[in-house]
Amino acid sequence: MDGHLKSKIIAQYDENKRQHAGLRYTVPSPDTYPYQWFWDSCFHAIALSYFDIERAKEELCLLLRGQFKNGMIPHIIYWHRVKSSPFPDIQWGKRHTSSITQPPLLAAAVWRIYEADGDKDFVKQILPHIHAFHRYLFSARDPKKMNLVGLINPDESGEDNSPRYDQILHLKDPRHQFVDNFRARLELVDDWKRSRYVVKKQIELNHWVYDVPYNAILAESLRLTTLLAEAVNEHRIANYSRTKSVNVRNAMRSKLLHHNLFQPVAGPKLRHIHTRTWALFAPLYAGVASKDEAKYLVENYLRNKREFSLPFGIPTVSISEQSFDPSGDWKGDWWVGTNWRGPVWMATNWLIMQGLLRYGYTKDAQRIYKTSLRLANQSGLREYYDPLTGKGHGAKGFSWAGLLFDMEALSIYIDNN
Ligand code: GLC
Repeated sequence: MDGHLKSKIIAQYDENKRQHAGLRYTVPSPDTYPYQWFWDSCFHAIALSYFDIERAKEELCLLLRGQFKNGMIPHIIYWHRVKSSPFPDIQWGKRHTSSITQPPLLAAAVWRIYEADGDKDFVKQILPHIHAFHRYLFSARDPKKMNLVGLINPDESGEDNSPRYDQILHLKDPRHQFVDNFRARLELVDDWKRSRYVVKKQIELNHWVYDVPYNAILAESLRLTTLLAEAVNEHRIANYSRTKSVNVRNAMRSKLLHHNLFQPVAGPKLRHIHTRTWALFAPLYAGVASKDEAKYLVENYLRNKREFSLPFGIPTVSISEQSFDPSGDWKGDWWVGTNWRGPVWMATNWLIMQGLLRYGYTKDAQRIYKTSLRLANQSGLREYYDPLTGKGHGAKGFSWAGLLFDMEALSIYIDNN
């Protein structure tokens, strides 16, 4: 990454910097996303670990001020209400936060910080929070005791309107309007509210999705938590995390693996969802796939021009799907975006790159880094990019390009090994 792009990203992080209770945090985009988001903060902390490690720690400490007593970490925290913003005033259930969560990337962020400066006090401080979140997930989100965590709302995946969830939202038209998609997701928030946020009979389990990326990220989160706990002699947490990490991996293999591919399951009969999205590659991130499964995936999907091998990288949805919409453009109206239905995102690139590296696909991993760089250089720091033209779309001044710092470190590691 050249100095110009680095300075541009750092300047954007300065612009997106906010403060609450003496702690600095980062908004994903000043106009469009003016609050603190859970998985975004993990991405920010990873990026910040390369140029302002104290701020990285503050970002996570503030995030955890929003953690619920039961361990859940909400996906949005409104430290300051912003009056004029294109971000609509959505009710996610609670007054000051959302009532749903997002992917468990906290341990990955803490691990990265620990790698950078070896600060054990920080690890000790955060570890109980990570552990409480994991415990929440297994006690509240695994009602069938499968060692898989279920999502009660597509937004919990971070991929709000991915076509993986069309079926459970009863959206039959693969090219439906964003407003219909949103309405269906918000109805699920109402259900959740009516159940008083308790998973009992009130909350219908039929729409739950046991998703692949979420559980892959969880398996990896538990593995990293084991390492963090061992580093600070927290044996109880280390043992719990190690056991659960193995259990989630085994459950992914026994419940989600279907004809060589890992697919989410949903509904009372836990039927597989076959929609081809980038999620096919998520098991690589956690090392859950066998070598042969990884090879099959790379050769038939990642490198296939009729699936995921597009001029500007790996789209979030395969070009072979009817729902594939490469631009995800908002067409001037917030309500018609299709952002997770085709465009390329920095976070998915970052996850796929790590997965490929784990299985020795170094050239493919380097290619993802190079295309990510090209996108940021040519089209700026945008929320997502068109995989066919490279054009940037969605929010401006978007923070996820900060992950390029980590991708660069991975790329240097590849070159040196
Ligand atoms: C969008 C994304 C979500 C992200 C949020 C803030 O809703 O889909 O993943 O956390 O924006 O950037």
